[in-house]
Amino acid sequence: MKISIISTSHQKESQSKRISLILKNFVKEIDNKLKILNVDAYELNIPLWTSNKKNNLKFWEKDSKYISEELNASDGFIFVVPEYGGMATPNAKNFFLIFNNGELFHKPGLIVSISSGNGGAYPISELRSSSYKNSHILWIPENVIIRNVKQFSPGNHGELIPDWLDDRIKYSCNLLIKYAEYLKPIQKIINKKDFGNGM
Ligand SMILES: Cc1cc2nc3c(=O)[nH]c(=O)nc-3n(C[C@H](O)[C@H](O)[C@H](O)COP(=O)(O)O)c2cc1C
Repeated sequence: MKISIISTSHQKESQSKRISLILKNFVKEIDNKLKILNVDAYELNIPLWTSNKKNNLKFWEKDSKYISEELNASDGFIFVVPEYGGMATPNAKNFFLIFNNGELFHKPGLIVSISSGNGGAYPISELRSSSYKNSHILWIPENVIIRNVKQFSPGNHGELIPDWLDDRIKYSCNLLIKYAEYLKPIQKIINKKDFGNGM
């Protein structure tokens, strides 16, 4: 089984990337046989979706295909989404437009929202309401919000990080892995040809 962790920041050396690497360790601790892929939308230079593919042929003809194959081979996803302006990031929304060829269909996703302060609820509400129609991603009912994210450092948390947070994250990651395992048979009955877009 393979889990992909998608970091959707617009910044270099982002908190989202840092958290994605910590989550990778958490997932490995739960099951060290899992394959884990980290996808960083900033580092991979994923452009905004456009119908004009001429300007960035390398991405549209090569990189996007490679990423698409990796996503197709994944059984579950963790999306690390910072709150920007009370919203999910453009990179998060853009991801669902670009990788819209069945890669995420009926596969479970865990939303991990981050904020440097006390925010973080809006990206969750936004993704839960509007990202799944054509991507068919299946957000699991648990989600994680890491507030005061700069203080988040397992083993050495700052004082604003609650004691219970690591356990909740591990619990949510474990559930995601189990959903990924138990939902695998669903892939056999998916009709991408006739029902590729949701209603
Ligand atoms: C353009 C921008 C807008 C932001 N808006 C919010 C916001 O509305 N609510 C909030 O809690 N944090 C906001 N922040 C703070 C981010 O949540 C925080 O900097 C986070 O660590 C950014 O994640 P990143 O490093 O992965 O990009 C904003 C940051 C940026 C860069």
